[in-house]
Amino acid sequence: MSRAVVYERFGGPEVLDVREVPEPHAGSGEVRVRVTVMGLNPMDWLISSTPSIAAAFGISLPAGFGCDLAGVVDEVGEGVDRFAVGDRVYGGAMARAAADFAVVDTGPSALFRLVRTPDGLRDEVAAALPTPGLTAAAALAAIDIRSSDTVLVGGAAGGVGVLVVQLAKRAGARVIGTASPGTFDFLRQWDVEPVAHGPGLVERVRDVAPGGITAATDLFGTETAEAALALGVPADRISTIAAGPMPPGGVRATGGASAVSADLDAIADAVAAGAITVPVAATFPIEKIRDAVALQADRHVHGKIVVTL
Ligand SMILES: NC(=O)c1ccc[n+]([C@@H]2O[C@H](COP(=O)([O-])OP(=O)(O)OC[C@H]3O[C@@H](n4cnc5c(N)ncnc54)[C@H](OP(=O)(O)O)[C@@H]3O)[C@@H](O)[C@H]2O)c1
Repeated sequence: MSRAVVYERFGGPEVLDVREVPEPHAGSGEVRVRVTVMGLNPMDWLISSTPSIAAAFGISLPAGFGCDLAGVVDEVGEGVDRFAVGDRVYGGAMARAAADFAVVDTGPSALFRLVRTPDGLRDEVAAALPTPGLTAAAALAAIDIRSSDTVLVGGAAGGVGVLVVQLAKRAGARVIGTASPGTFDFLRQWDVEPVAHGPGLVERVRDVAPGGITAATDLFGTETAEAALALGVPADRISTIAAGPMPPGGVRATGGASAVSADLDAIADAVAAGAITVPVAATFPIEKIRDAVALQADRHVHGKIVVTL
């Protein structure tokens, strides 16, 4: 037997239970990962609370929980030659990551990829990377960020935002990020110029950047996208990841599924080399999964929440 987070009805953190379940085993083309850390994303609890979102991912009840993980391969199925027992890996296993063992498809058509963890990258950090890393890369690729840009990042201190701002700075751009005033110093560690989100955003951005902004990415709803449009940024230089499929004014909706896997490899290598930091805001043991979800659902986490097994 092994532990797994499961839920039998949709709802808030209270529907999540840690149960003893039979150990899964790797079938043909699969490996089994002994999970050490799971990285929590808003999508995890949006799925466990919202039947229509779960259905969009092909998830039905009863269901397992979580996607992003890091750990060690401990079983290799028939026909798998890319991995061996003992390999450190990280990646995604939709609705299976919050468990002692996750079986992962290694085939070329697998939606979520498993890759070797670079030396120098701790599991706690590797587990925090898959969804945010792919999404951050997609958010910036959609607007082709350049060193001449002044880019406005909405929701700059969240799990995706901390990567977006560092990637944009590495590209040489000037970065203005929205946050609550209490978060401003956190963003300044990367030379991000903070502005408060909420009513009056357009005027505050004008004050900080009287010469204007040239691009924007909205990681929290539509406020930043709308402000950028109002500031004269062309729609094709504004991306959103959290505005649904029909964002305002023809701006570009994108997400992790639009990224290429090499982007995540590059981010992981940069993190391993110390060139990008991944702030882990809180670490919870699996038994406290409800507390972890409640904290993130409050939407004021700075960096990532990870869950240990
Ligand atoms: N399309 C995709 O593939 C994809 C992939 C990943 C994530 N997402 C979505 O993208 C969004 C961001 O994900 P995440 O992991 O970064 O979330 P997160 O870590 O939960 O984001 C938390 C951040 O949001 C900020 N925030 C709170 N209220 C805000 C507001 N009114 N305006 C602007 N920022 C606000 C907070 O900053 P303060 O505390 O300073 O206010 C906090 O730092 C989520 O909605 C998620 O579902 C989409």
